[in-house]
Amino acid sequence: MKSFFTHLECTYCEKIHSSNEPQRLCVDCGKVLYPRYDIESAKKVFAKELLPHRQANMWRYFEMMPILNENNVVTLGEGFTPIFAMPSLGEKLGSSKLFLKDEGINPTASFKARGLSAAVSKAKELGLTRLTMPSAGNAAGAMSSYAARAGIDAFVFMPMDAPEANQIEVYFTGGDLNLIEGLISDAGVISRQKAEEMDLFDVSTLQEPYRVEGKKTMGYEIAEQFNWELPDVIIYPTGGGTGIVGMWKAFDEMEQLGWIDGSRPRMYAVQSDGCAPIVRAFENGDEFAEPWENANTFAAGIRVPGAIGDYLILGAIRESEGSALSVSDESILSMMKTVASTEGMFICPEGAATAVALTELMAEGSIVSDERVLLLNTGSGLKYLDLLGDIKTHLTGNAG
Ligand SMILES: Cc1ncc(COP(=O)(O)O)c(C=O)c1O
Ligand SMILES: [Zn+2]
Repeated sequence: MKSFFTHLECTYCEKIHSSNEPQRLCVDCGKVLYPRYDIESAKKVFAKELLPHRQANMWRYFEMMPILNENNVVTLGEGFTPIFAMPSLGEKLGSSKLFLKDEGINPTASFKARGLSAAVSKAKELGLTRLTMPSAGNAAGAMSSYAARAGIDAFVFMPMDAPEANQIEVYFTGGDLNLIEGLISDAGVISRQKAEEMDLFDVSTLQEPYRVEGKKTMGYEIAEQFNWELPDVIIYPTGGGTGIVGMWKAFDEMEQLGWIDGSRPRMYAVQSDGCAPIVRAFENGDEFAEPWENANTFAAGIRVPGAIGDYLILGAIRESEGSALSVSDESILSMMKTVASTEGMFICPEGAATAVALTELMAEGSIVSDERVLLLNTGSGLKYLDLLGDIKTHLTGNAG
């Protein structure tokens, strides 16, 4: 297969950057770089009819991925996760066409596998051998896993109170685990410092150009799995925002490929009441989001006080005529139980936040019952056992 990747382009000032060497942010304005493709040429050979014959993982879209030599792909089978109809939950919440894409069944049990499979593959292609990153948890586990498979060194900086599962998976996969006091933003400062001191390449999300390419494959899959008619609504738990902007990028590319028409889902970004910088910026009509002070939520993946791609997230939600909203930790925990007991899926807190958001958006009339709504469950609930508080006191029943 041939990739049609050509160069990197700044998403803010449009400056072109070479992709032949490692790059991070725009050298002129410090904003996010996106991989760009020769879509006109790709269009002639990359027909969507080829897809059913391809492997059931995210590399089925290889022509629109940034790896030039297939041998450099580092894979554990990530992507092509199922989309389930959710009839019982839908009935409970009053939504008659409710679906959920289950990213919890990815390798490393979260959608972070996609971004890190792409970034580690590209690092291998560029000859990088030592990577570092700050992480709320799941990304660290994923980087450490893919780096192990690629024979690359991985250093991670994670808040001390990140889920235990993430700490343990980094240990087992051989990453250099550094627990720090503070939040992912504090970990980011240390990771950048260490990158300079120890000659490491920092793969913080959207601060290197390739993780988003892994995440964008969710957008390709959603189109393919919905038979090239995107749903009316997508609700997504937003931390750094790479998932939401990645899907938006995929929709742009697929429109240029002629695979979908111009009708797009309304994109809703969900955050927690304890950490909602994007919601605040959306409500204030701002282009950028101020960092959130004292961020606090047990939904570790959305405990992200500041996002470098804030303008991209806000741009996508506004362009799509969606919005941003926050929900309480209490409602997230109770929704985890509701989803698991109605549909049998033990989803992560971030995923449950999207179902809470749906109830609120329906109550205010922003979403109506017969719209096709897709929730993104970004990980498995099994990765959060230590953060589920006093759940154990409720475990045993009355029969015994
Ligand atoms: C389970 C989970 N959901 C959502 C997110 C937020 O992802 P994004 O950076 O794409 O906004 C994270 C990030 O750590 C996560 O681990
Ligand atoms: Zn720029």
